[in-house]
Amino acid sequence: MARPPRAAASLPQHRLSVVVLGLLLFRAAAKAQLSGDSYYDASCPAALLTIRTVVSAAVLLDPRMGASLLRLHFHDCFVQGCDASVLLDDTGNFTGEKGAGPNAGSLRGFEVVDNAKMLLETLCPQTVSCADILAVAARDAVVQLGGPSWAVQLGRRDSTTASASLANSDLPSPSSTLATLLTAFSNKGLTTTDMVALSGAHTIGRAQCANFRDRIYNDTDIDASFAASLRAGCPQSGDGSSLAPLDESSPDGFDNGYFGGLLSGRGLLHSDQALFAGGGGGSTDGLVRSYAASNGQFSGDFASAMVKMGGISPLTGTAGEVRVNCRAVN
Ligand code: HEM
Repeated sequence: MARPPRAAASLPQHRLSVVVLGLLLFRAAAKAQLSGDSYYDASCPAALLTIRTVVSAAVLLDPRMGASLLRLHFHDCFVQGCDASVLLDDTGNFTGEKGAGPNAGSLRGFEVVDNAKMLLETLCPQTVSCADILAVAARDAVVQLGGPSWAVQLGRRDSTTASASLANSDLPSPSSTLATLLTAFSNKGLTTTDMVALSGAHTIGRAQCANFRDRIYNDTDIDASFAASLRAGCPQSGDGSSLAPLDESSPDGFDNGYFGGLLSGRGLLHSDQALFAGGGGGSTDGLVRSYAASNGQFSGDFASAMVKMGGISPLTGTAGEVRVNCRAVN
């Protein structure tokens, strides 16, 4: 008769239970992690190609859509984690995040996500989460506009809840100081380098007058001719919906031009210029200078920071659900 392995036989019963418990805890902890980018290879082999095709068509039609999709992923991840909570529509008895201050009248790209989801539901029903669609779409949009690529970690599931109050408290405002920005990002486990690199997302896209009005009429650290040219299209009061590029040097090209703008006082938002004080120097001035000098350094740090941001508190395993319609819980 085979003898039991020595190690197991010689372990007292209670120590064996501790080892088993440890292994179970390890498995549970491992489950809370995202998986690599091959996550859907078996369950939905065309998933990534489908998302890329839908994003590609949308960005070809409207290059700004690339920026809007990138921002959607950010606004998802900073509120309850990357769980697609941002996509839920309000209903009679449910208030989502779309009406929150930083999102209302400003977030775009929901239809693009709907289109990808519709195709994915036909190909492989209830398999690819809306939160993963957002993460992949953000990467594909950046690549299409000339930016870096990265392997998107996958396996997020979708929330059954949303939080307008967290959207109001956790998403940074354009009037933020550097200290406020650093705190907002560190609250999400992101470093100073992550914060500065991720702010480089403002190398693409547009902002509405209402969000840079105070800066162009009241800030003193703004380039005078830059402020004057913006005032022409953005009245001091009244309609605040006119748009200006966040990076005037290449509004639809993902590069380090945004940082060059900051060096010359041409950041569009107060929160953009907060990253570069000049003169005696703020604590992030060195990073801004480095990124302005090296697109390679910016690209590498941006890609790493996107992977970190995409890993904020995901729902994995059996938590949450895979929504059938990204706008509503199942
Ligand atoms: C550092 C703190 C940040 C603040 C205060 C901030 C604030 C803003 C504001 C006010 C706008 C203009 C919205 C409008 O006028 O409709 C905007 C646009 C944008 N933001 Fe940020 N943002 C921040 C960080 C980020 C991050 C981390 C990302 C992505 C990784 C991001 C991506 C974008 C993009 C791509 C746009 C343009 C969107 C479009 O054209 O549709 N932002 N942001």
